[in-house]
Amino acid sequence: MEFNRLGGSGLKVSELSFGSWVTFSAQLQVDNAKECMHAAYDAGVNFFDNAEVYAKGESEKIMGKVLADSGWRRDSYIVSSKVFGGAVPDPKPTQRGLSRKHVFEACHQAMERLQVDYLDLYFCHRPDPEVPIEETVFAMTELIRQGKVLYWGTSEWSAQEIMQAYSVARQYNMIPPTMEQPQYNLMWRERFEKEYARLYSEIGLGTTIWSPLGSGFLTGKYNDGIPEGSRATLPGYEWLKEMMEKRLTPENKEKLQKLGALAKELGMTQSTLAIAWCLKNPNVSTVITGASRVEQVHENMKAVEAKKKLTDDVMQRIDEIMGNKPDLSPV
Ligand SMILES: NC(=O)c1ccc[n+]([C@@H]2O[C@H](COP(=O)([O-])OP(=O)(O)OC[C@H]3O[C@@H](n4cnc5c(N)ncnc54)[C@H](OP(=O)(O)O)[C@@H]3O)[C@@H](O)[C@H]2O)c1
Repeated sequence: MEFNRLGGSGLKVSELSFGSWVTFSAQLQVDNAKECMHAAYDAGVNFFDNAEVYAKGESEKIMGKVLADSGWRRDSYIVSSKVFGGAVPDPKPTQRGLSRKHVFEACHQAMERLQVDYLDLYFCHRPDPEVPIEETVFAMTELIRQGKVLYWGTSEWSAQEIMQAYSVARQYNMIPPTMEQPQYNLMWRERFEKEYARLYSEIGLGTTIWSPLGSGFLTGKYNDGIPEGSRATLPGYEWLKEMMEKRLTPENKEKLQKLGALAKELGMTQSTLAIAWCLKNPNVSTVITGASRVEQVHENMKAVEAKKKLTDDVMQRIDEIMGNKPDLSPV
């Protein structure tokens, strides 16, 4: 496992990390969540990702219990939360969003559920058009000054919104965001590679990328329809099932089959190939993996070795198969 600086910061984050969206509470309870987190930690993972909205706080409680019982030193791992969606069903106006009130209260509640005295990373889970950016930047800065958060960042903000937060922080002597958490995978490249391109060098933006397997689609296991026991069959995730069905066009199926054949030729699984591909981008600080069982963790950790087989030649073949490399030439 290699460790990357989180953008321009001095924090060293493992190139693969582990997150709990969908899985914790719906598919994994404390016992098997523990198995997965320990398998990841033993493989060198030092970052565990969470959010207030995941299973409405239950995901943080499960992760908190595993961390508390783990015997791991607090200074050996990084844990995050995200604020925006709220941690209760049908949140009232004050229980969601990026107002100073909710940012403060959500941080305290996340620390309690995760059983930690501070959050290493704290993300604004989405932009909030109803809150002045100054208010959110000030709230994050205050949390850092109080020692409750070490680094703050954004998730799925546009490049313009990230730059705005950065500029406001610089203008008022506050603390700018360190990292962004965007989706990035073989199917979803444009924003990461094109829209954010200048932010990596200009403001030292770090990235903790999500859904490297496109929720499982890139493993190839959806090629013949929705697989039994997958997240797309869970109650409450009908939207994901619909999304997968829409994605499964004859064209995409053909691409995934070609990707599977290439993986076989390279002596790796399609899942490992897809995760290793994300690792190859130098602007990725860490790839957040997800798993509904420990075998998947073991398999996904192999991406660290697999990436060595992704030579320039292989990367070009992948681009040709997927046919979606963003055009980075100046307009
Ligand atoms: N900031 C955001 O807005 C945001 C959004 C989404 C996720 N995230 C973060 O990113 C993390 C990862 O996202 P993700 O869970 O969507 O990642 P993903 O890697 O795209 O999907 C993980 C899912 O794919 C399936 N899978 C994983 N490994 C597999 C393997 N080796 N073989 C077959 N199936 C496999 C499992 O689902 P099944 O077994 O159920 O098929 C697993 O739960 C989340 O936990 C969360 O921390 C953040």
